Amino acid sequence: MTGQGQEANTYAPSAEFAKDANIDAAKYDEMYAASVADPEAFWGEQGKALDWIKPFTKVKSTDFSLDNLGIKWFEDGTLNVSANCVDRHLATRGDQTAIIFEPDNPDEPAKHITYKMLHTEVCKMANILEGLGVRKGDRVILYLPMIPEAAYAMLACARIGAIHSIVFAGFSPDALSARINGADAKVVITADYAPRGGRNTPLKSNADAALLHCKDTVKLLVVKRTGGQTTWVDGRDFDYSELHAEADDTCRAVEVGAEDPLFILYTSGSTGQPKGVVHTSGGYLLYAAMTHKYVFDYKDGDIFWCTADVGWVTGHSYIVYGPLANGATTIMFEGVPTYPDASRFWQVCEKHKVNQFYTAPTAIRALMGKGAEFVEKCDLSSLRLLGTVGEPINPEAWNWYNDVVGKGTCPIVDTWWQTETGGHLLTPLPGAHATKPGAAMKPFFGVQPVVLDPQSGEEIHESPTEGVLCLKDSWPGQMRTIWGDHERFGKTYFSDYKGYYFSGDGCRRDADGDYWITGRVDDVINVSGHRMGTAEVESALVAHAKVAEAAVVGYPHEIKGQGIYCYVTLMNGEEPSEELRKELRNWVRTEIGPIASPDLIQWSPGLPKTRSGKIMRRILRKIAENDYGSLGDTSTLAEPAVVDDLIENRMNRA
Ligand code: WTA
Repeated sequence: MTGQGQEANTYAPSAEFAKDANIDAAKYDEMYAASVADPEAFWGEQGKALDWIKPFTKVKSTDFSLDNLGIKWFEDGTLNVSANCVDRHLATRGDQTAIIFEPDNPDEPAKHITYKMLHTEVCKMANILEGLGVRKGDRVILYLPMIPEAAYAMLACARIGAIHSIVFAGFSPDALSARINGADAKVVITADYAPRGGRNTPLKSNADAALLHCKDTVKLLVVKRTGGQTTWVDGRDFDYSELHAEADDTCRAVEVGAEDPLFILYTSGSTGQPKGVVHTSGGYLLYAAMTHKYVFDYKDGDIFWCTADVGWVTGHSYIVYGPLANGATTIMFEGVPTYPDASRFWQVCEKHKVNQFYTAPTAIRALMGKGAEFVEKCDLSSLRLLGTVGEPINPEAWNWYNDVVGKGTCPIVDTWWQTETGGHLLTPLPGAHATKPGAAMKPFFGVQPVVLDPQSGEEIHESPTEGVLCLKDSWPGQMRTIWGDHERFGKTYFSDYKGYYFSGDGCRRDADGDYWITGRVDDVINVSGHRMGTAEVESALVAHAKVAEAAVVGYPHEIKGQGIYCYVTLMNGEEPSEELRKELRNWVRTEIGPIASPDLIQWSPGLPKTRSGKIMRRILRKIAENDYGSLGDTSTLAEPAVVDDLIENRMNRA
C-alpha cells in the first residue's frame, strides 16, 4: 500500500511496486551523480540504447554562452528514427500491438496495429510523400485528428528525413497558414473531418481556407476519416486512400545525422508570434525513450496511455517517439474525457487494461467535479502508475487522483517539462522516490536545475528557497534552435540569465531539496495545460476594427488552472455590449482557435500605464485575480484614476 510516510503528505511507493521497479533510490543517486560528474561518459553509454547506422564518437558539444550558443549531441553519429521506432522491433515483436486506436465513438471498434502493420503503413505513407515530391530536409505539416495516420505520417517523415510540423487540429485556418508559411512546407496532411466529443471539426475546409494564404505549390493530402462531404481542388488535393491502394509497402530508411531536424513544433512565448521549436533526431529520441522507460517504470508488455494530442509535445514524446522506441504498446485516443460521459477515460483503461495512465491536471479537476461514481463503476485494477503534466496540480486534485483513481496503490509522477525540453526534466522516479502532492520533485539524469534570484541572477544554493528556474547544462532532448531564427533562440532562453537556460517558470526548492513549480514568471499563461502567449491574444483582439487597445492576463480558474482575462479599450464612438463581447470572443476563436477563447472581457476606457506609456501588467493581474487590495506602488502611473475604474468594474468577483 502507498501510505503516508514519516513526513506528513509524503507518499512512499508500496513495497510491492518498489520491488519490481526499474530503479531504486540508491541506483538513482548513483546514476544521477554519474550523469552530472561526467556527462560524456554517461550519455555515451546510454546512447548505445539506440540503433545507429554510423555510431557516434563525439557525445556532447554544448555551449550556453550567447556568443557561441550551440547544442549538439552525438553529432557525428547517423541513424534513422523510424527504423528505431519500428524496424528494429520486427524480429522480436512484429506481432505485438504497437498502437491501439480508440475512436471518439465508443461503438466504433478499436484498432490494434501490430509492429508489422505499423511498418507497412509507415512505408506506404513514406512512399506517398515521396511521390508528392517530399525529400530529405523538406517540411510537411500535419493537421490531423488523433488517428493512427498521424503516427504513420510522423514516422514516414522521419523515414525519408523530412521534417514534420504538427498543428493541433483545434487551431484556426489563420494559425495553420502562419505555420505552413513559417515552415515553408511542401505538403500538408489533413483529414476530411475530425470527430471529437461527438462533433466533427471540418479540417479539410479549414485547410482549404488556410491554403488561400499559402504558395500555390503546397499540396494537400487528405485522409478520409468520416467520408463527409468536402470540396476538392484537382491537382492540389490528393486522396490518401487512393494513393495508399497503390503505394509500395516497403521503403528504405534514409541515413540522417543525429543533429538533422526531426520536427518543428510551434509554441507560444511571452512576446510576438509563436516560435518554431526545433528538435533533432538522435538526442531527442534517446531522451524521449529513456524518460519513458524510467519515469513511467515501463516494462515489456505494458499498455501505456498518454491522453495528450499529438499536436502537443507530450503527444510527440509520450504517445509516439518514446513508447515506440521502447517497443511499447501505446494508445491513441481520438476523443475527450467527457464523451459520451465522464467515465470515458476509465472505460478505456478497463477495456484496454492500461498499466500506465498519463494526463493533465485540468482533466483530473474536470472529472473530479463530476463525481467519483464515474470512476468507481470501472475496473481499474490494471493501473500501476499515474502521471500528470502540463501545469501545477493542486493537492486536492492530486489526492483525488491518488485515492479515487489509483486506489492509493499507484505512484503519481508529476512531470515538469516543456516543448523546448523534449522530455521530462523534473519528476519523481516511481519506486525510487516518495512523492509529495504538487511537487515535481527531482531532476532526471543529466539535468542540473538551479534556482536563481530573479533580480541579481545569482544562484541560490541554500534550501528552502524560491526563485526562477534555470538549467545549468544541456541534456540530449533540449531544443536546438528556433526555426529560421537562431538569434531569437539566444534572446529568448539565454540572455536574461547569462550562461543558463531560462525556463520561464518560477519554482520553490523545499528543505529536502525537492522542486515545486510555482508557474510562469513571464507573459505566458497556461490554460487547461495549453500554453498561450498573452501577446498573441492581444494582437488578435486589436486586429478587430472596434478595438483600440487590449491587455490580456491570466487569472485563477477552478478547472482550467488559468483563464484568459482581457481588458479591452474600444475605438472612439464604439459602445460596449454583450453582443460585442460575444463577437470578440468569436473573433479570437477564429483568429487563433477555441483554446484562446477569452473567459472574461472587461471594458476598459483606459489601461494603467507608466508615464513612458508601458502597460502595468502587474496591476492588471492583481485586479484579474480579485486581489486589488495589494496593488503595490501605483505612484508611477500616468493616470491613477484609471485603476479605480478597473477595480470598480472588475469581472472576477469570485
Ligand atoms: C507548465 C508541456 C507545473 C510550465 C509538457 C511549463 C508544468 C509549461 C508542469 C510548458 C508540471 C508543464 N507542473 N507546471 N508538472 N508541466 N508545466 O511547452 O509552466 O506545452 O513551462 O509543455 O507548462 O508547456 P508546454
